[in-house]
Amino acid sequence: MTMHFGEAQASRALPVSSRLESFLATNMFDQPTLVIDTDIVAQQFMALKAGLGEADIHYAVKANPTREVISRLVEVGSHFDAASRGEIELCLSLGARPETISFGNTVKRASDIAFAYRAGITLFAADAEEEIEKIAHNAPGAQVYIRIIVETSEADWPLSRKFGCDRDTAIALMGHAKMLGLDPVGLSFHVGSQTRRSEMWAPTLDAMATIWHDAIALGHDLRLLNIGGGFPAFYGEAIEAPTAYAAGVMRQVRERFGDVERVMAEPGRGLVAEAGVLACEVMLVSRKSARDAHRWVYLDIGKFSGLAETIDEAIRYQFETPRDGDPEGPCILAGPSCDSADVLYEKRPVHLPMTLAAGDRVLIRNTGAYTSSYSSVGFNGFPPLAVVAI
Ligand SMILES: Cc1ncc(COP(=O)(O)O)c(C=O)c1O
Repeated sequence: MTMHFGEAQASRALPVSSRLESFLATNMFDQPTLVIDTDIVAQQFMALKAGLGEADIHYAVKANPTREVISRLVEVGSHFDAASRGEIELCLSLGARPETISFGNTVKRASDIAFAYRAGITLFAADAEEEIEKIAHNAPGAQVYIRIIVETSEADWPLSRKFGCDRDTAIALMGHAKMLGLDPVGLSFHVGSQTRRSEMWAPTLDAMATIWHDAIALGHDLRLLNIGGGFPAFYGEAIEAPTAYAAGVMRQVRERFGDVERVMAEPGRGLVAEAGVLACEVMLVSRKSARDAHRWVYLDIGKFSGLAETIDEAIRYQFETPRDGDPEGPCILAGPSCDSADVLYEKRPVHLPMTLAAGDRVLIRNTGAYTSSYSSVGFNGFPPLAVVAI
């Protein structure tokens, strides 16, 4: 059940989709399958848009690149954040206009920048001098935004350290970009994925606003603020409903940045996670010894076939079985591959019915984001996660 803080505390921000429920009830699959409801994606888009106001939503394609999801988002007027040439080609092939696509990866192949530029894309991310040079050479005159490093994050899935640069480097990069004929148009950051409440954005926004105002004071003509993703999905811990959350973020943005000409947001998880349910199966229930307090429950899906975000038990999915209601007990939940890293939850065991047995169906709720796109192509001979869009 989807529970949210705030505006939708009593009801629910998202009605359980009867389409999704009846599809699951009437279809069985012989491999783990993600069923994604594009109506819910469209509803989530509208809910976030209602809170974000004038800000443009650039869907982070990496969260779920299923063709039907992208098509539906094109229909409802979404823009796109692409990480690669493949994602750009996908969006263009489904009708997205090039001016609505930003090339948001800070690590790009030079030939892919040239491809994007020829295709009409004129907005690129960078956090390093070499990247600015690649862009200047392959996309002359393009707009660039500089990604700033986020030092501390309260997110369940932080994206700090690997991406972005500090204040002084960012300001130097803007000067360098200008010298090379580019238009350093603004800043970007990512507060960290699955940031559960909007007030958790405050320290990051404070740090970004200082850099923004410093850059303007130094003569840079900043017109674009890219606030990235971070919009949460329900995984068991309470979250704010999407419209209230987005409005809360925008209020804090306006307080610190004033009237910025262009604000973009790049939700991935917040748009698609709650639109997907994963149908999978119990492969084995066992104990390592007669004294073992914990059962081991092995599913036919694991870290390599879609549940990569269980690394460090960061994202805690919700499980549903046909035996719910029977007495429950703790278990260690593991994937099917012959790799000892393929354990989903052990530090904080999952409670599942004691009657659970091989062959039982397990539904994993709110799995529309970062599952199919993380699945290996065939580790241990298991096929990649199947996706059915309805
Ligand atoms: C540049 C960028 N924008 C947006 C996103 C989407 O983030 P989220 O799924 O938290 O909304 C990501 C995720 O990795 C990203 O790297």
